[in-house]
Amino acid sequence: MGNYSIAVLAGDGIGPEVIEQAERVLQSIGKRYGHTFNLQSALVGVAAIEAEGDAISDATMQLCQRSEAILFGAVGGIPRFEGPNSKIQPERALFRLRKELALYANLRPIHPLKALLNASTIKPEVLQGTDLLVVRELTGGLYFGKPSEIRETSQGLEAVDTLPYSEVEIERIVRTAFELARGRRKKVTSVDKANVLSTSRLWRRTADRIAPDYPDVSLEHLLVDTCAMQLIRQPSSFDVIVTENMFGDILTDEASMLAGSMGMLPSASLGTRETAHGFLGLYEPIHGSAPDITGQNKANPIAAILSAAMMLRYSFNLKQEAQAIETAVERVIEADYRTVDLYEPGKETVDTKEMGRLIAEAILV
Ligand code: IPM
Ligand code: MG
Repeated sequence: MGNYSIAVLAGDGIGPEVIEQAERVLQSIGKRYGHTFNLQSALVGVAAIEAEGDAISDATMQLCQRSEAILFGAVGGIPRFEGPNSKIQPERALFRLRKELALYANLRPIHPLKALLNASTIKPEVLQGTDLLVVRELTGGLYFGKPSEIRETSQGLEAVDTLPYSEVEIERIVRTAFELARGRRKKVTSVDKANVLSTSRLWRRTADRIAPDYPDVSLEHLLVDTCAMQLIRQPSSFDVIVTENMFGDILTDEASMLAGSMGMLPSASLGTRETAHGFLGLYEPIHGSAPDITGQNKANPIAAILSAAMMLRYSFNLKQEAQAIETAVERVIEADYRTVDLYEPGKETVDTKEMGRLIAEAILV
């Protein structure tokens, strides 16, 4: 029986709605296993810009530093704060958290539930057997490289972004991928664009240098364009995919469609900081703030709920409890309950709160 401290940053759009259901599920876990989760909420994103003048305040950063895990909803999606000309972008909260907490490893598992094979736009026979994990580098590359600006020249405007990667950054994320593959089917696919980019050539060389340290794991290289194709042609051929920040961003939105809906996919962002029970991590659904359905009690809370399960597994080392959440989600889906994003004729459509309640209840029976 433990005591666990969690910073809850629900954020914008559907963030608060889905995080509320994740909290409800954590309460069930606490009840069933006798744990205490100390949840402390704070503002991020547009709400924080309006109330505190920045996408995430120093005080909220300190709260996160003190916590063992961060449960994060979504930020952004409000037009007047969008685009490179807006003074403070809500996404800044995410970048600051990722960088200052050194959350370099972003884990995005994609394991379509059997009962949802028909919900995907991809044929069920193609999806059959898909169980992959994307390990995305999260604190380097184009997202943080300087310079990144639009500037005036005598010829008119020009813009530049910078894509830097050090061998140290590549090595640690590739090692993370190899370690995780050891607990799975022992295959790593390293994704790059080595036919064009220097960073990719260093990436590939580094992966090859490290591979002999993991003789039980196989390593293959794939160009990112081929990987994009292969993900929908034969997704079951992948086990662990490791790739740089921007490629990982794009490939995981694509891969989310294998699971039927973005609303199903959780993520974990892990660093090196040890806490009382494991590693400090940030847990968030991979979907965004979904302004089109905000406030309508329609969003699928499962991605947020499964993110809480990842939190139990990676930051608190509560494997059985994490599994209990995953099993509860599976049971509720198998009992034919669906949020609208997973609409199928003949299944019962439920709203955000009802889906959360069903899963929270399934944990207790
Ligand atoms: C993600 C999101 C973010 C990213 C956005 C909101 C900046 O798309 O976590 O995948 O690009 O990293
Ligand atoms: Mg993304």
